[in-house]
Amino acid sequence: MNTNTFRPAVLVARAVFPEVVARLRQHFDVDDNPEDIIYNKAELTRRLHGKAGAFTTGGDRVDAEVLAANPQLRIVANMAVGYNNFDLPAFNAAGVLATNTPDVLTETTADFGFALMMAAARRMAESEHFLRAGRWDRWAYDMFAGSDVHGATLGILGMGRIGQGIAKRGALGFGMKVIYHNRSRLPEATEAAVNARWVDKATLLKEADHLVLVLPYSPENHHCIAAAELAQMKPTATLTNIARGGIVDDAALAVALRERRIAAAGLDVFEGEPAVHPGLLDVPNVVLTPHIASSSVATRLAMANLAADNLIAVLTGGTALTPLNAGQLQRRA
Ligand code: GLV
Repeated sequence: MNTNTFRPAVLVARAVFPEVVARLRQHFDVDDNPEDIIYNKAELTRRLHGKAGAFTTGGDRVDAEVLAANPQLRIVANMAVGYNNFDLPAFNAAGVLATNTPDVLTETTADFGFALMMAAARRMAESEHFLRAGRWDRWAYDMFAGSDVHGATLGILGMGRIGQGIAKRGALGFGMKVIYHNRSRLPEATEAAVNARWVDKATLLKEADHLVLVLPYSPENHHCIAAAELAQMKPTATLTNIARGGIVDDAALAVALRERRIAAAGLDVFEGEPAVHPGLLDVPNVVLTPHIASSSVATRLAMANLAADNLIAVLTGGTALTPLNAGQLQRRA
């Protein structure tokens, strides 16, 4: 290797597939984190010193202070489709490119959202815990009777790529009636392709037998499902959240589940995760998973490779594959 060749330095903030780190090493001096230590803000800021690029995951918060302390930084590539861990206006002001990993996770995440909804509707976790506890001693006519998925009304809040994937599964695979609410209505042809009808939020809450949340987190939709919204849902309905913690008021949801104001929930994301609201751990009628909706081996590898591709492209003179703010960068002072 020609040691005179300039090699930009890159931080890989969390442990990630060794083969992806090896790809990065072909181009960069890589500071990686195989022990998967969770860097706090001060440590992340310090580790970024001298780095032209960073590979982050959804738990790594990159804000104005982190960016200001690292004026040499040119790109931060998030291994996630969501990017609420980035202060994007601060990225724009600092002239730092941000990228995410859309598309490669759509179908895998839609599979998981559908599975979680089915698990909640058919009480799979609750009945499994019962069996494991040695409490199964007879057949009973109403044992863990849940609610049907096929033919029911599927409500989707947030209708991007993953929402459309779930709509297709419901409409085409399970004969569900699909309604959705989104700030902007889909073009008619897209609605027809996924067999979904736009409704206002109140109608969605009132009519859905199974409500699935797939909208990106923003401060405007913080707690957009709270006590008042849960009260509008059917007492037989289920709620599934594969979007982000903070969209649902978890404390209010725990109360609604305990008081059976809705039948069940499936949650993959939590406010303040990895901490989980203790009220949710206490109620039987909720399926809880640790933020794994995109976690198939193939998809997580594809996400990691896409984040790496973005770093390699941008830091070797090309353009990002999946930029978030390419047109909005302000020049550095
Ligand atoms: C996971 O939550 C992601 O945003 O990719």
